[in-house]
Amino acid sequence: RRILAPEFGAHGVHSRGRAAIGSGTVRLDNWWRAPAATTAGLLVFLLYGGFRAFQQQYFFADERYLTPFYSPCVSLGCASEPGSAHFGMFLPDNPLIPYAALSLPFLLGFRLTCYYYRKAYYRSIWLAPAACAVPEPHATYTGETRLPLILQNVHRYFFYVALLVSLVNTYDAIVAFKHPTDGFVVGVGNIVLLVNVALLWCYTVSCHSCRHVTGGRLKHFSKHPVRYWLWTKVSALNTRHMLFAWVTLGTLVLTDLYIALVAAGTVTDLRLVG
Ligand code: FES
Repeated sequence: RRILAPEFGAHGVHSRGRAAIGSGTVRLDNWWRAPAATTAGLLVFLLYGGFRAFQQQYFFADERYLTPFYSPCVSLGCASEPGSAHFGMFLPDNPLIPYAALSLPFLLGFRLTCYYYRKAYYRSIWLAPAACAVPEPHATYTGETRLPLILQNVHRYFFYVALLVSLVNTYDAIVAFKHPTDGFVVGVGNIVLLVNVALLWCYTVSCHSCRHVTGGRLKHFSKHPVRYWLWTKVSALNTRHMLFAWVTLGTLVLTDLYIALVAAGTVTDLRLVG
C-alpha cells in the first residue's frame, strides 16, 4: 500500500487531520535503546566479519580446525594451511577475494534478506519507524513492492544455498576430529565447532522459508503426515528465529575468534581425548 505525502510537505504524523503535537514523540520511556542496541550489534558483527574475511590469516588451527568464516576454503591461498581446503582450491589468491568467496556472499545475502533481520534494520537503521508511536522520517511508504526492496524476495533461494553451506560446516566439524598424525582426537575446539554448527542448523531450519518449504501450500495436512510433522517441528523452532539470529552472530564470532587465537598461538587448545 502506498501512502502519499500530503501537500505542504507535511507527512506521516504531521499530515492534515492528525493531532498537532509539538514534540517528536510523547513516549517517555527509553524507546531508542532497542534500535540503538540492534544497530551496534549488527555493526560489530559486520566490522569483525569483514575484517576476518579479508585477513587471510589464522583461519586453520591444529591442522584440523577450520573457521566458518573461511569455509569452504577454495582459494589458491588456502595452500598456506595444508589440509584446510576440503573441497579443492580454484579461486585466485587475491587480497580482495576472501578465501571463502564461494559461500560468504550467499550467507551475507541470506542474513540480509532474513525476515527477522529485515525487521531489525528497517527499525534500527532505516527508522521506519524506529519504535511504536515514534514518527518515521520518510515521506512515502512503498513497502517491498519495488526496487530495491522487492529483491528481498530472493530470500527463499538464499535459503537453499544456506542449507548447502550448513552441510559444509557440518562436514568441517566432523573432519576436525581427525588429526593428520595423531588420528582421532577431541579438543575444546571440537566442542566449539559442534556447538556452532548445531546453532547454525537451528537458525537455518527455523527460517520462514523453510517453514513454507515443509508445510506451505498444503490443503490437507492429514494427507501429508511427514510434511505436517516436519512443519510442526520447524514451526516450533521458528518461534525462536530471532533468538537464533542473534545467538549465531555471537557463536560465529566466538568460534572464529577461538580458532584465530589457537592458530596464532595465543591460546592452547586443550586436548580432551587423544
Ligand atoms: Fe530468517 Fe529465513 S527468515 S533466515
